[in-house]
Amino acid sequence: MKRSFQINNKMKTLLRIDSSPRKQTSISRQLADVLQEKLEKSEQFSTLKRDVYYDELVTLGNEDSVTAYFTPEDQQTSTQREAVASSNILASEFSKADTYIFSVPMYNFGVTAGLKAYIDLISRAGISFKYTENGPVGLLENKKAYVIITTGGTKLGTGVDHVTGYMKTFLNFLGITDIEFINSDQIMADAEQVIAKATEIINNI
Ligand SMILES: Cc1cc2nc3c(=O)[nH]c(=O)nc-3n(C[C@H](O)[C@H](O)[C@H](O)COP(=O)(O)O)c2cc1C
Repeated sequence: MKRSFQINNKMKTLLRIDSSPRKQTSISRQLADVLQEKLEKSEQFSTLKRDVYYDELVTLGNEDSVTAYFTPEDQQTSTQREAVASSNILASEFSKADTYIFSVPMYNFGVTAGLKAYIDLISRAGISFKYTENGPVGLLENKKAYVIITTGGTKLGTGVDHVTGYMKTFLNFLGITDIEFINSDQIMADAEQVIAKATEIINNI
């Protein structure tokens, strides 16, 4: 088996983020399994997984957490500190990773609520982006993201696809520009064929 190692011996981190509420029957998770295996075979990774529907760290924000985002740590109340703790963990974990796999089902033309909640937790000034005189600048450089998108009937790349553009905008916002989309759309038409085509794309990465 061919493996490549970084010269400085620092093992790269692969962070996989699953965002389907379905587990056993999820096609995006199934394709993410194939991609994870493929990447782990080609390079030595330390792999972390976040499951936005089944991970208790992924929560909706509230007044305390949002206030804490803009309050220096030593001035936060204990309630604010507690409310922002999961965001601190997830944002710094995300910022430290090198390569990402997002498995992203389309729900009502956008990403699932769980993924949106996760994105709101990891997009943090001072951790994943910073404010400058010229506006916000992403802090995550030299990263690679793979985004697997599944849809039932909607064709990706059309005007009603609010997943592809959103994922690109959000990743670019954090500084991640090397993005590979793996489309698995219109599954309802012919699931087997659509999954086979996406698997082939992954195997050719
Ligand atoms: C609540 C809900 C909303 C959905 N909305 C859309 C949609 O807007 N467009 C679409 O093409 N498919 C839609 N689908 C179908 C899913 O995108 C499709 O089943 C996909 O395979 C889900 O990913 P998963 O298999 O990883 O769970 C929806 C499914 C559910 C359950």
